[in-house]
Amino acid sequence: MDRIVIHGGRRLHGSIALSGSKNATLPVLMASVLTSEPVLLSNVPRLRDVKTALELLQRLGVTVRWLGPHELEICAANIKSCEAPYELVKTMRASFVVLGPLLARCGRARVSTPGGCAIGARPVNLHISGIRALGAKIQLRNGYVEAHADRLRGARVWLDNPSVGATENIMMAAVRADGRTVIENAAREPEVQDLARMLTSMGAHIAGAGTHVIEIEGVERLHGAEHQIIPDRIEAGSLMIAAAITGGDLTIENAPVDQLDAVIAKLRETGTTVITQDKALRVWRSAPLRPIELRTLPYPGFPTDLQAQMMALLTQAHGTSVITETIFENRFMHALELLRMGADIVMKGATAIVRGSSRLSGAPVMATDLRASMSLLLAGLVAENTTEVSRVYHLDRGYEEVDAKLRSLGADIERVPDRKG
Ligand code: UD1
Repeated sequence: MDRIVIHGGRRLHGSIALSGSKNATLPVLMASVLTSEPVLLSNVPRLRDVKTALELLQRLGVTVRWLGPHELEICAANIKSCEAPYELVKTMRASFVVLGPLLARCGRARVSTPGGCAIGARPVNLHISGIRALGAKIQLRNGYVEAHADRLRGARVWLDNPSVGATENIMMAAVRADGRTVIENAAREPEVQDLARMLTSMGAHIAGAGTHVIEIEGVERLHGAEHQIIPDRIEAGSLMIAAAITGGDLTIENAPVDQLDAVIAKLRETGTTVITQDKALRVWRSAPLRPIELRTLPYPGFPTDLQAQMMALLTQAHGTSVITETIFENRFMHALELLRMGADIVMKGATAIVRGSSRLSGAPVMATDLRASMSLLLAGLVAENTTEVSRVYHLDRGYEEVDAKLRSLGADIERVPDRKG
């Protein structure tokens, strides 16, 4: 397995362009199953999760062709299987959102349940109850969700919590159902909005994406479309934090500025300067970091996917910060690795108390999940000596060429390939 080796102490400077959003890409790829016509996607990030999603689509009989570095043509003219196998779904939970589109297209689907993951139980009960409400017969057998419906029918669906994946799955089942579906307490994340845009350009009738109530009027058929994936707001936030933690000065060229309000507000509270220039964001820090209170929330609140990175930053603040994680129950695994680097963090349930001004010192650390890995890289950027991050495949799931990007900004970072090959 590759490792990433960082020699800390360099301030990051320069301009950088964001890759396409991982979390927007994955459901959009699954949406391509809804039509037999080709779908053209641009700004698709080259990530391990995208590779896994494409492998799943190919197993279903979908043809996939890269037309350029970030341009894809996908055609689901012939679906030959309706099964998403365990070995793929367990490596990437987001594959579970293939259930809705497969069912809508084929009238049946067999999709493995994803199981637990490093950041919590992450059940799929809301996906299942929502799709059941549309008239699907669903049973769980041998670890697989087996669903069939000769015809899906529009319905009112209330989500207990605004799950991103459940909203996407139900939306994709509802676009070809008979009549009107209303999803209440829907997720408002920009990635849900991007999926709605993609489905709309395929001929779907969707109103309210980006609000808590999404209305979908089912249509008989969907057609091919072209769609450009939105830039990755989590990559943007991670780079902003990299500028803040190193006392650097970065410009992010294609930043989704209006999706980053909570992140910008919290970084400003730490004493980091953030200025928005049209579509660009400039972030720099020259003053000492101040401690803050931070609470993760569904969009437009502060994203859980940036909590680990903020924790790394707050180890450098002058004072005590309090972080509360409200989305996932076990998302402080990175804290244990940060402790090994000299951080002072106490965890109690969903709260972490971070006493700042820690002199971090490099250590061999292990990535446990995607965003946790990024927090270790960020800590490595300011740690004394050498930090060696193993299990880098977690990073490759969601950050495109992260080592090359950070190197281009002045970081002393290199990827050491696995000697075994
Ligand atoms: C998506 C993102 C992930 C992000 C998360 C929250 C993708 C591919 N992943 O994950 O990066 O961290 O949103 O912003 O877009 N829940 C249930 N029952 C369900 C579904 C979810 O109880 O059926 C719970 C989860 O356990 C969690 C909360 O709802 O506590 C939010 O999860 P959800 O929004 O579904 O996250 P994902 O879609 O899996």
